[in-house]
Amino acid sequence: MKALITAGGHGTRLRPITHTKNKHLIPIANRTMLSYALEFAAEAGITEAGIIVNQGDTEIEGEFGSGSDLGLKITYIPQEAPLGLAHVVKIAQPFIGDENFIFYLGDNILVGGIRKFIDEFESNGSNCHLVLSKVSDPERFGVPEIEGDKIIGVEEKPTEPKSSFAVTGIYLYDSSIFEAVNNIEPSARGELEISDAHQYLLDNGRNVTFSEITGWWKDTGKASDLLEANRLVLDNLQEERNGTIENSNVTGRVSIGEGSKVIGSTIRGPAILGKDVVVENAYIGPHTAIADGCRIIGSELEYSILMERTSIIDVQTRIESSLIGYDAEVIRGSAKPKSHRLLIGDQSRIQIS
Ligand code: DAU
Repeated sequence: MKALITAGGHGTRLRPITHTKNKHLIPIANRTMLSYALEFAAEAGITEAGIIVNQGDTEIEGEFGSGSDLGLKITYIPQEAPLGLAHVVKIAQPFIGDENFIFYLGDNILVGGIRKFIDEFESNGSNCHLVLSKVSDPERFGVPEIEGDKIIGVEEKPTEPKSSFAVTGIYLYDSSIFEAVNNIEPSARGELEISDAHQYLLDNGRNVTFSEITGWWKDTGKASDLLEANRLVLDNLQEERNGTIENSNVTGRVSIGEGSKVIGSTIRGPAILGKDVVVENAYIGPHTAIADGCRIIGSELEYSILMERTSIIDVQTRIESSLIGYDAEVIRGSAKPKSHRLLIGDQSRIQIS
């Protein structure tokens, strides 16, 4: 079995971060989002993965290379434009060949891996196996209509959902999916929808089975989803303490990377500090991930993600529920008049209270 994993698309809902960074490289608990999908594939015994990238994108290949570090052979498949998930499957046909495969949306995060879904698909012997999750907002997703123990229909982002399940971004297929993606038409938004391909399989008498995710699953479309995914991954954090801790109170599961210094501070886990981080006279609260080279001095931070080399210095109000990009600075100035002085990129969002 091969894996087909997405890392293309626009990432518009995560601007301004995605102006300079592919969404799939945003860190969750200090690891790139896409590394979770690749690791799950390798753990499940898959050795060959195809990653869909936007035409001209070299960032993803720069990060994962041949895949040998992960025990995978990675093929990068450029997509001329984000023309839909069924288009992704269509252009991947030469890579997949006649094999069964798992199609995994690289912006989906889950706990517990994917092996059990592969096992279910194989034991069902179905043409297509969908993984469902109960959600409070099904209208954001592909939604199945279920009768008894069968899926009888799938709609993409319906205004009136026919169940409270989302079809998650984990799909298992045999080669009949290629007939489907080659026979459907673009939707009103101009995309070849994967839900339409699933509906095609149903309409043509193919066997579509499903299972439900019992643990947690997140589609990381928005900043609030990323913070939630970060929280959920940190809840299972393996603690590793390196660096130096002086006159500080560090409680709960806290991972501290090499070369980091925690001085005169309080850290309440779960939280992760990367390498060469300085936390001085500061408070770091639960569910915070701080990447390599950041400095948190004289400030309080909680339930947030900080990307590499960012500084937060002498900020007197606690910062929380925040996603802060690379090389950013949030600092308290002493110049009069007392005012906010901002240098903010396009589509940034600052909430001052
Ligand atoms: O997360 C589950 C949902 O994913 C499903 O419930 C929906 O049925 C499915 O259509 C999809 O909906 P989204 O609106 O979340 O899809 P999005 O456009 O965010 O793309 C998902 C992933 O695929 C993401 O990694 C970006 C990538 N992508 C997307 C498109 C449209 C590509 O690589 N190429 C594309 O053409």
